[in-house]
Amino acid sequence: MYLLRKFILLLFFVVCNLLFYLYSNPKLNSKYLTLVLDKKSIEFSSQNIRLTSYSVPKYDVNCNALFKNNSEEILRAKYMLQEISNVKRPPDSDYIIEESKCENFKKARGYYRHGTYASDFPLAITILAHESAEQLERLLRTLYQPQNIYCIHIDKKSDPNFHKAFESISKCFDNVFIATKTFDIIYTGHSRLEADFNCLKDLLTLDNLINTVKHPNLIGKKVVDWKYALNYVGTEFPTKTNSELVNILKMYNGANEIQVIENKFLHRYEYKWVEDYRRHKMKKTEEKNPPPPHGYILAKGFCSYAISRKFAEYAVFDPRALSLMDWLKNTKSSNEFYWSTLEYNTQIYSDHGFIQNFKQTKNTLVRYSAWSKAYNCTGKIRNGMCVFSIGDLSHVIKRREFLINKFMIDNDPISYQCMEEWFDKNERTNSTLDLDFYCNFARKKSNLVKCKNI
Ligand SMILES: *[C@@H]1O[C@H](CO)[C@@H](O)[C@H](O)[C@H]1NC(C)=O
Ligand SMILES: *[C@@H]1O[C@H](CO)[C@@H](O)[C@H](O)[C@H]1NC(C)=O
Ligand SMILES: *[C@@H]1O[C@H](CO)[C@@H](O)[C@H](O)[C@H]1NC(C)=O
Repeated sequence: MYLLRKFILLLFFVVCNLLFYLYSNPKLNSKYLTLVLDKKSIEFSSQNIRLTSYSVPKYDVNCNALFKNNSEEILRAKYMLQEISNVKRPPDSDYIIEESKCENFKKARGYYRHGTYASDFPLAITILAHESAEQLERLLRTLYQPQNIYCIHIDKKSDPNFHKAFESISKCFDNVFIATKTFDIIYTGHSRLEADFNCLKDLLTLDNLINTVKHPNLIGKKVVDWKYALNYVGTEFPTKTNSELVNILKMYNGANEIQVIENKFLHRYEYKWVEDYRRHKMKKTEEKNPPPPHGYILAKGFCSYAISRKFAEYAVFDPRALSLMDWLKNTKSSNEFYWSTLEYNTQIYSDHGFIQNFKQTKNTLVRYSAWSKAYNCTGKIRNGMCVFSIGDLSHVIKRREFLINKFMIDNDPISYQCMEEWFDKNERTNSTLDLDFYCNFARKKSNLVKCKNI
C-alpha cells in the first residue's frame, strides 16, 4: 500500500514536470502542445460557437505578452488558433435581437460602459459591412458612445439574416440607424462611394428624414449636432479611443484628415468604366471620359476620412462637388478620388485651410494598412493587404493612425479579442497620447490647426 502511494506520487510528479516542460518549450510538436492548452480552448475546438446570453466566449490567452512580442506566447496563441480553425463563429441569426431583449443585450455587451455622459464634441460614424454580424456588432460596441451618431450600410447582396440582425440591433438605439439607401457594392466600383456618400448625407439630413413616412426605421432617432465624421468598414478597428480622437480633432479645428496623393492613375478614368452587374465586376469601355467638371484636378488617396461637418456639407450639397461625384461614376475606384480631390482643389473650396503639398499630404493618420509586399504579415493576405494576426499585434498597437485596416474575426478571433482588451483598457486609463505629435503633423497640412486649448 505504501509503495503504491509512493508510486502514484512519483507518477504525478513526473507528469507535472512533463507538462511543465512541454508548456515552457513552445518549439515542441503542436500535438503535444494542445495537451497543455487550457481546457476551455479544447472545448472550443470541438463545438461551434453560439451567442449565448449575448456573450461570446473568451480565449485564455495572455494578450499583454502578445503585445510585448513574447515569442512563447505568440507560439502558444498560434497553436490555439490552429486548434480552433474549424470552429464556426456564431451565425448572423444569433444577432437578431428581439425588441424586448434590447436592454439585456446592451447591458451584456457593454454598451452602457460609458454611462450617459454628454459631450460638446459628438462624432458621426459611418460603417460599411458585407459579412459577419459578429464582427460588425463587436466593432459597433467598441466605437459606441451615447453622444455620437452611427449610420450603418449593409451590402444589398449580404445574407438576409445579416440585414435582419442589424435592423433589430439598430432598433435598440436612438443613435444607430441603417442607411436609407442600400447598394450592391462591386469591388472598385462607384457603388462603394455611393454607399459611403449616402450614409454621410443621411447623417447631415437626419432632422428632415426622421419626419418623413418614407423612413419608418428612423422614427425615434436622435438628431445629433455632430462636429466631425469618420468612415469605417467592418474589418477596421480603432486605435484611438473616442476621447483621444476628440482631443485630436479639436486641435484640427476644421481641418480634415484625408490622404492626398498626386494623381498618376490615368488608367482608372481615361476611358469610361462601368459596373457590370452580370459579372459583378468593373468593365472598361471604349468610350473616353470628358475632363472632370469645374476644372477639378484629380487627386487620389485612401477612401477613409475624418472630416469636419462643414466640409461634409460641401461634399454632399455643393453643386460643383455633386457634378464631380456624377463624373466619377464612370471611373474605377472612385472612392479613392472623391474625398481627396475635394480636399485638394482649394481654388474651388478652401474653408478647410488645406495646404497643397503632395510630399506632406501623402502621409496620413487616418488609417494604417500594410501591403503584403512592404510588410512581413503574420496573418492572411487579402487583395494584397495584410489581415493582421497574432504576430502583428505588438507592431500595430504602436501605430499613430486613427484606425487599422484590417482584422477578421473569422480568420483570427484571438487577435480581435486582444485588440478589444487593449482598446477597453485604454478607455479606462488616462491617455498617454502625444498630442504635440498630432498637432505638428496636422499643421503641415492645414493652416486652421491650433495646438493649444485642448
Ligand atoms: C521580411 O522577412 C524577410 C526574411 O526574414 C526579410 O528578408 C525581408 O527583408 C523582410 N521584409 C520586410 C519588408 O521587412
Ligand atoms: C517580434 O519578434 C519577431 C521574432 O522574434 C521579430 O522578427 C519582430 O521584428 C518583432 N516585432 C516587433 C514589432 O518588435
Ligand atoms: C487620471 O487623471 C486624473 C486627473 O488628472 C486623476 O485624478 C486620476 O487619478 C487619473 N487616473 C488614473 C487611473 O491614473
